[in-house]
Amino acid sequence: MGFLETTLATKGMSTAVALKILGRHVYAFGRHITAKKMANFVKAEWSKFRGKEAVPSYPYILKIEPSNICNVRCAYCYDNRRQPREGERPYGRMSFQQFKQIIDEIGEYLFKINLYGFGEPWLFPETLEMIRYAADRNIGVGVSSNMNFDDPGLPKRIVDSGLEVLIFSCHGLSRETYTKFMAGGDPDVALRNLGAVISEREKAGHKTPFVDWQYCVTGFNEHEREAAVQKAKELRVDQIRFIKPFFPEDASDEWFSSMFPKHTYRHVHEKSPGCNWIYRSAYINFDGGVIACCRDVRLTGSDFGNVFREGLKTIWNNEKYRTSRAVIAGRKDIVCNTICSRCPIVQVGRKT
Ligand SMILES: C[S@@+](CC[C@H](N)C(=O)[O-])C[C@H]1O[C@@H](n2cnc3c(N)ncnc32)[C@H](O)[C@@H]1O
Ligand code: SF4
Repeated sequence: MGFLETTLATKGMSTAVALKILGRHVYAFGRHITAKKMANFVKAEWSKFRGKEAVPSYPYILKIEPSNICNVRCAYCYDNRRQPREGERPYGRMSFQQFKQIIDEIGEYLFKINLYGFGEPWLFPETLEMIRYAADRNIGVGVSSNMNFDDPGLPKRIVDSGLEVLIFSCHGLSRETYTKFMAGGDPDVALRNLGAVISEREKAGHKTPFVDWQYCVTGFNEHEREAAVQKAKELRVDQIRFIKPFFPEDASDEWFSSMFPKHTYRHVHEKSPGCNWIYRSAYINFDGGVIACCRDVRLTGSDFGNVFREGLKTIWNNEKYRTSRAVIAGRKDIVCNTICSRCPIVQVGRKT
């Protein structure tokens, strides 16, 4: 279990869930492998193992946010979707041309793109174009969605886009629990749209998108887990996962289930699981702002660079990345001003 937690950042999840996630990564890996990707992968893993600061490799998985705009207001997501303050990222969307720029620069090293961040990917048509462009270049694409849309033709277009994985966010089955977590959303609409995607997939005779229902478990929705399992069977969903959500420390007790111990953004780790992002992946905001992971997404001052202006290859070994890798490797003689120096995972792991 320790290996899975460290490798996949699945701390707190059961071994079964961690193995399912590992299975998806192995599938994407095998489906999209090329000699170039393999060589890059080996270099990245070797650099991680050695705790290198400047690396001869590029990320092989990317998280790219098409937009941070959403049609639903989930509890605590993007600070309850409040308006941006000074120094914070505005709301907006990435254009297809900007996405293409990223793929044209670094796509040949990528096994997978998680094409979602802190917004709803199906709100804008360019998301489908982005998926097609990446899929045609042998990159697996995953999207996470609340599936609250009113467009009867969209399920077929989703299947036709070449999407590999569809994560369905649905944290409650009854209207009461669903809307308590996902305010402004409608569970009937979401489930109907999910069913339509699966029907279109079957009609097309495709195996993809693999449909993965992600259910964040809280104190007030945990009693609906069995009903959700039944619903998933009825809709022929491929997998349902009950996961531990993150909430701020001051969230009331009802947000924490009996299934998982209280786990907040500032959870103190007894032992550092290490950090994979800094060698394997990166989070690209809709405006091109690159951050190491999904911490502190709103503060533009925390960005490691801008991919549209500088290119990811340059950013990947700039001073911010190099000092972050150094501090993660335990070096104390280095001044690092990035979010990584304040990450609780890193604090625990620092050598004295
Ligand atoms: C921020 S959402 C954006 C994508 C899309 N709008 C959605 O909800 O799936 C990205 C992922 O975060 C998950 N999520 C939502 N609230 C969460 C929480 N409090 N803790 C952990 N994950 C959460 C969602 O299930 C989703 O898979
Ligand atoms: S649907 Fe997704 S992006 Fe929108 S508020 Fe919920 S978790 Fe956040």
